[in-house]
Amino acid sequence: MFAVTATRFDADDPLAGLELGEHPDPSPPDGWEVVAVRAASLNHHDVWTLRGVGISADRLPIVLGCDAAGVDAAGRDVVVHSVIGDPATSGGDETFDPKRSLLSERYDGTFAERVMVPRRNLLPKPAALSFEEAACLPTAYLTAYRMLFGRSGLEPGSTILVQGAGGGVATALIVLGRAAGHRIWATSRSEAKQERALELGADQVFPAGSRLPERVDAVMETVGQATWAHSLRALRPGGRIVICGATSGAVPPAELNRVFFQQLSVVGSTMGSRGQLDRLLRFCEQTGVRPRIDRTLPLSQAANGFAAMIAGDLFGKVVFTL
Ligand SMILES: NC(=O)c1ccc[n+]([C@@H]2O[C@H](COP(=O)([O-])OP(=O)(O)OC[C@H]3O[C@@H](n4cnc5c(N)ncnc54)[C@H](OP(=O)(O)O)[C@@H]3O)[C@@H](O)[C@H]2O)c1
Repeated sequence: MFAVTATRFDADDPLAGLELGEHPDPSPPDGWEVVAVRAASLNHHDVWTLRGVGISADRLPIVLGCDAAGVDAAGRDVVVHSVIGDPATSGGDETFDPKRSLLSERYDGTFAERVMVPRRNLLPKPAALSFEEAACLPTAYLTAYRMLFGRSGLEPGSTILVQGAGGGVATALIVLGRAAGHRIWATSRSEAKQERALELGADQVFPAGSRLPERVDAVMETVGQATWAHSLRALRPGGRIVICGATSGAVPPAELNRVFFQQLSVVGSTMGSRGQLDRLLRFCEQTGVRPRIDRTLPLSQAANGFAAMIAGDLFGKVVFTL
């Protein structure tokens, strides 16, 4: 089958290990199903894999891609939950399974004609969502959903700062947070992206690092080192940073004095459970919210999407179709 794979790691030139071509078809064990992929979306995770972050060389070559929507063997339209884990080991939430993985870490991912997944990882695709829209949800939107509605502890009507407005998770935070009744403020390095964040539903936008009109209840972080100091200063006493990623680097000064004196919380968040993906699908149906798609490309042009992500030249999700 046709697939997009990582064949080697290169920390400085991630595209060097990207290969498009033939890959063996999946042969599913008992309890797993094969999905014919109709649409798959790109995440920064795929770039990290090509850089060799979060994966060891003995897994190569591996098909990239965490997210997919497609058709299962019985002809049903499905959305694929990317977290391969056992909820029984971790209080009913597979994201806490110490052995959990995401598609494309241990098992082949979704940038292929077919992908195999455990049966419980398939959810019915709502008819109201296109395959392209549904394929944006299982990683970036699910992560944003858990950050906002699980890990933040916030009630609707809170003020939230989203750092780095253009990213896949950041755009998801803006649209989901706004639909849930939060006041969303966003930063971006780019004026054009600030404008687009306003169109998407942000109440106010600011250049990265700038002073805010007042302190916020929570900051949603995906950028990391480049925005960390600003995030700490943006919070009201007792406020909370929810962090799911560190695109610009993972070791900023911790500024522990500020953390304890202002009684701040720093809370990590990763992906979401199957139940949360189910509720996210319903949230989209109920509110009419749809993922923000930057561009849709045939899978055969995947390299263009990767290049745009590496350049930070995106506003929303890149979707590959088959
Ligand atoms: N833990 C999880 O489960 C989970 C799930 C999804 C993603 N993540 C992580 O979250 C991060 C974002 O993922 P994504 O898919 O949304 O990535 P993305 O689409 O590539 O997001 C990148 C965004 O980061 C912002 N940014 C700000 N300063 C930056 C700098 N100095 N260098 C690079 N980027 C900068 C940019 O916003 P502006 O240009 O607007 O400033 C850019 O649009 C990644 O690190 C990813 O691995 C984690």
